[in-house]
Amino acid sequence: MNVRIVEVGPRDGLQNERTPIPTEAKVAFIAALLNAGLKEIEATSFVSPKWVPQLADAAELWPLLPPGGLYSALVPNGKGLDRAISVGVSRIALFTAASDAFTQKNINMSITESLGAFREVMETFRSSTPGGFVRGYVSTAFQCPYAGIVEPSEVIRVSSKLLALGVDEISIGDTIGAASPREVRDLTRLLLEEFPAEKIAMHFHDTHGTAIANVDAALELGITAFDSSAAGLGGCPYAPGAAGNLATDDLVYFLERQGLKTGVDQAKLAQASLPILKSLGRPVQAKAQLAELASGE
Ligand code: HMG
Ligand code: MG
Repeated sequence: MNVRIVEVGPRDGLQNERTPIPTEAKVAFIAALLNAGLKEIEATSFVSPKWVPQLADAAELWPLLPPGGLYSALVPNGKGLDRAISVGVSRIALFTAASDAFTQKNINMSITESLGAFREVMETFRSSTPGGFVRGYVSTAFQCPYAGIVEPSEVIRVSSKLLALGVDEISIGDTIGAASPREVRDLTRLLLEEFPAEKIAMHFHDTHGTAIANVDAALELGITAFDSSAAGLGGCPYAPGAAGNLATDDLVYFLERQGLKTGVDQAKLAQASLPILKSLGRPVQAKAQLAELASGE
């Protein structure tokens, strides 16, 4: 069985980093990820540069992306869509949440307002970009940094609204990495009662070290698309306490050892994030990356 990995390192991994990374270094990072076998790569965000300065170069980055990847970018509103369309983005990701407190802090809108904005974005995108792909994120699907435990019924409600708007898939976000496998199992069962597995991706952060166990829980129920970030970089600037994403290195190791095919070369992947880690002054922390690098010494 094949599993889809959506590499979010260049976007989720970098958005929270204060040290400005030059556009060319981002392009080199993305090229190395592609060369390691990752095909779906969330490359940047067309959000307000005041809110996320690190990704202010989205429009400059886009034309420099190496051929061969399926690149996507976050789009929060009509202005972001216009910027994205002007450089030829054909895969966009809209993002809202299952907690109003979070959407307010993250995009300065309520959930309802965000869905209203997305309706217009979808219409413009579909008419301007035939064959385009749209992902809809549902953040804080388990816990919200501002409002605590989130009801699964709210996740189902927001997911239904996004799918009714015509998004091609939803990505269920454990934004602050607080979920346990039991909670993932419970929510996944509810999601699968409503939507086909092919429409659902899971997006785990690894704050408490439960991300791989959460992947396993979702996999057993039939989910086959997972988001992760090379070296486990990441976090949301508007979600205090959110540590890095599940490391792609750990995810690839786990999936391959479970007999699933990822198409990713673990050794090339371990190397791919080293220059960015160096620029950020961060040590290698992902366990599978550490082990891979040690095995090559
Ligand atoms: P706002 O301040 O309410 O927006 O922000 P506004 O419409 O009032 O505009 C304010 C200024 O921003 C204006 O400029 C606009 O032109 C400009 P000024 O007149 O002051 O010079 N502006 C823009 N500029 C460029 N691109 C745009 C854009 N929009 C407005 N798209 C807004 C509202 C949505 C823009 C803002 O809140 C925002 O950009 N938020 C993004 C925050 C973000 O990126 N968060 C991280 C991603 S979500 C995440 O990490 C979770 C995820 O990983 C899943 C998970 O883990 O759960 C996906
Ligand atoms: Mg995230």
